[in-house]
Amino acid sequence: VVGGYLIWTRTQEGTAALIGGPFELVDQSGRTVTDATLKGKWSLIYFGYTFCPDVCPTSLTVMTQALDQIGPVADKVVPVFITVDPERDTVEQLAGYHDHFHPSFVMLTGTPAQVKEVAKAYRVYYRKAETEASTDYLMDHSSITYLMDPNGNYVTHFGHDATPEGMAKTIREKVGG
Ligand code: NI
Repeated sequence: VVGGYLIWTRTQEGTAALIGGPFELVDQSGRTVTDATLKGKWSLIYFGYTFCPDVCPTSLTVMTQALDQIGPVADKVVPVFITVDPERDTVEQLAGYHDHFHPSFVMLTGTPAQVKEVAKAYRVYYRKAETEASTDYLMDHSSITYLMDPNGNYVTHFGHDATPEGMAKTIREKVGG
């Protein structure tokens, strides 16, 4: 994992406008999901990969626990996991991974070009780590969870050290209800 705050050296306001944008991917059940699909609800978006040994599962667990803590407010928020490892994270792989986390998770993959495009839109860094083995590789990637509003606009983000309690509190404040 690479530091989560590299891009926030600019003004918060100026950066906010740069996060997000159009994408087309496919979810864990094979359904096409675009930026338009996510509109109408808040979304909590994290980029990672299912083979990640620790950081990604921890982050998705934090998101799951935060949603569990906010009761009915969670109905207004869609948690989204977008892979940065489309080679290994097939629809079937995501379907199995989905069982470990909040049931409302939308888990997305696509072609390498589609993943590259969505990562660029969200200013997410990722790179295959140098390794001897060709199949058992790790990915370096930024570990940031974005809260986007129902129009797909950036609201705030959480770093990899976020706690379920802290995330739940911020979501309640922003989403209300
Ligand atoms: Ni990871």
